[in-house]
Amino acid sequence: MASALGIDFGTSNSAAGMLVDGKPRLIPMEAEAETLPTAVFFDFETKRMVVGERASEALLAGDEGRYMRGLKSLLGTRLMRESRMLLGERLDFIDIVARFLAEMKRRAEAATGMVHDRVLSGRPVRFHSADPNRDSQALIDLQEAYRRAGFAEVRFMNEPEAAALANRNILSPGDLALVVDIGGGTSDFTLFRQKGSAEIDILASHGVRVGGTDFDRTLSIGRVMPQLGMGSPIRHAFGDDTHIAPNAIFNDLATWAKIPFLYGADTRKAAAELEKFAVHPKRLARLVKVLEEELGHDLAFAVEAGKIMANTQGETDPVIKVGMLKPGATLSLPSDWMTDRLAPLAEEIGGAADEVLAKVDIAPSRVDKVIFVGGSSLMRVVEDALRRRLPEAEIHRGAALTAIVDGLAIGAATAFDR
Ligand SMILES: Nc1ncnc2c1ncn2[C@@H]1O[C@H](COP(=O)(O)OP(=O)(O)OP(=O)(O)O)[C@@H](O)[C@H]1O
Ligand SMILES: [Mg+2]
Repeated sequence: MASALGIDFGTSNSAAGMLVDGKPRLIPMEAEAETLPTAVFFDFETKRMVVGERASEALLAGDEGRYMRGLKSLLGTRLMRESRMLLGERLDFIDIVARFLAEMKRRAEAATGMVHDRVLSGRPVRFHSADPNRDSQALIDLQEAYRRAGFAEVRFMNEPEAAALANRNILSPGDLALVVDIGGGTSDFTLFRQKGSAEIDILASHGVRVGGTDFDRTLSIGRVMPQLGMGSPIRHAFGDDTHIAPNAIFNDLATWAKIPFLYGADTRKAAAELEKFAVHPKRLARLVKVLEEELGHDLAFAVEAGKIMANTQGETDPVIKVGMLKPGATLSLPSDWMTDRLAPLAEEIGGAADEVLAKVDIAPSRVDKVIFVGGSSLMRVVEDALRRRLPEAEIHRGAALTAIVDGLAIGAATAFDR
């Protein structure tokens, strides 16, 4: 027996589901959680690739290998087609995404006892909001990854439209609602109307490439990277002049998907050079250590944890725990400072919400409900930016992390009839 799967391939978390007796059912991908971290670890010792929670555990345990998270952000970029040797095989990043998806397929088939060779996958409304060519290439890349993973047929649905489908029952007939899906990599919006029957009318969708990983990057650049020498003076090899350390390494180190590219000999050499001529060698020595000991992801996780801590109600003293740089060390992360730093990103997200309404010329006051989904919709700065724009709408927080996969499971049941 074969049945179409719905897969939400997320920047940070993924999930699979299918329709059972007319209801969306999540297919467990992990023993302990509803969703699967979108992460892989190539273990140099066992010569195997593990995914999800196991990948994160291997990273934290300091196992010898290569960890990757945020792969979805690379779709559409030139890096996807670059190949490298991993565990004795030449692989490009499409292969790596394909192996992650193949493992989801395998786990789903083990759980359901069915063959799943058709998939309705979610996609952000825009993978790359600043570049239409990259945007269409990203979809081609993802489609190819599904093919290489062994799926015979692949269809796509906008992620916020899937969330709209999953939430149709919370609305009354005639209600106008806006889905606000703020994930790890993108922010996506769908304006829709409940039509009375089981159907919905999608009026407009819109998206922008801003998400939780951008919040992480901004906080890392603001708070952590200066401790590693970002923005600090470097003496010229000859004479007394100085210049500021180039930003590129620090920007990449603060960007989840770019971290694995920093562990080559050339970057280490560049960092060692910077340390040698640094006015503040202690800081650059930390950069050298992070590259030598491959601590980039550990730092990124620490920043993410600090972000969530600072965003937690009642937390009075949020910090980024940087014990990997110096035992017991922390960097304070005052909520006001964080709100300030993240305001431009939150405004960009708010602006995209304005735009989806403007597309169909609907005034904010006409929206009855705002449905928040996605992990970063829990960010206070995001909620504030949206509330300011839609002060009269009722806020609904449903299944924030599973609404999209629920909608894809519903959609998958009929997606292949056409
Ligand atoms: N309590 C919280 N406060 C703030 N941010 C959070 C919280 N919990 C999770 N996040 C953030 O939510 C993001 C992950 O959300 P989600 O799982 O919805 O993304 P995704 O679906 O993988 O990404 P995308 O849809 O953009 O591809 C991460 O950046 C994470 O740090
Ligand atoms: Mg998502």
